[in-house]
Amino acid sequence: MNLEGQTALITGAGRGIGKTIALKLAECGADIVLADMNPEVAEVLLEVESLGRKCLTFETDVTDFDAIDAMVKKIIEELGSIHILVNNAGITQDNLFMRMKPEQWSKVIDVNLNGVFNVTKAVIRPMVKQRMGKIINISSVVGFTGNPGQVNYSSTKSALVGFTKSLAREVGARGVTVNAVAPGFIDTAMTQALNESQQELILQQIPLGRMGGPADIANAVAFLASEDASYITGTILHVNGGMY
Ligand code: NAI
Repeated sequence: MNLEGQTALITGAGRGIGKTIALKLAECGADIVLADMNPEVAEVLLEVESLGRKCLTFETDVTDFDAIDAMVKKIIEELGSIHILVNNAGITQDNLFMRMKPEQWSKVIDVNLNGVFNVTKAVIRPMVKQRMGKIINISSVVGFTGNPGQVNYSSTKSALVGFTKSLAREVGARGVTVNAVAPGFIDTAMTQALNESQQELILQQIPLGRMGGPADIANAVAFLASEDASYITGTILHVNGGMY
């Protein structure tokens, strides 16, 4: 998968799946922009540069519409354009629905859904103007299956399905594809927060008998970002070891 000459913006790229996606796209030849609210994003820059690619980092919050708009303008000023957007930043704030506080509901909606709106809104005009763009949203298997304790999180992840499919229909004629990857359970800080019995329960549901790694998701994203996927839009690619 050759992404030479392209620039990819990845949100939540400071660690976990986002970081692995950034390194994979860099390996495929893309220049990389890392955006994360966590300062550790600066450390990923050195890894991208060691692959011989240009790299910019922004310590920024996807929920801040104006900051995101300013970031996208700066990227275009410095690197010329953005060809690939990976909306990866996401959080959980789990609680059974009867105990869920309004703040837990709102915060997760704000990051996982409004954040995707903000970043996509900032890149869509330049992509349409250049008649080329690949937008890849990171959904989740729980957006399809549901999961107790995750009414807030799973609502955002299934909302991204509607977002992906509707936007794909709006911008397809302008050369922009919009797809999503729906990971199953992937071994990152997010899933390491689960206790042993929760992890055991999850493993029993996975036909391939193991959690996925961030590279499994990065490979799927690289495919959707590449020319090999140029006739694919409005699709959700499930990467979950067969659990759904
Ligand atoms: P993680 O918690 O390891 O990394 C998420 C990154 O997003 C962090 O670096 C964090 O600082 C950043 N972030 C959080 N809020 C942000 C904000 N408001 N603005 C900018 N950056 C922000 O999570 P992980 O596991 O790497 O997940 C990445 C994506 O994959 C998320 O959207 C998650 O919902 C999704 N996912 C993860 C699964 C898993 O099993 N780990 C399964 C299915 C989906």
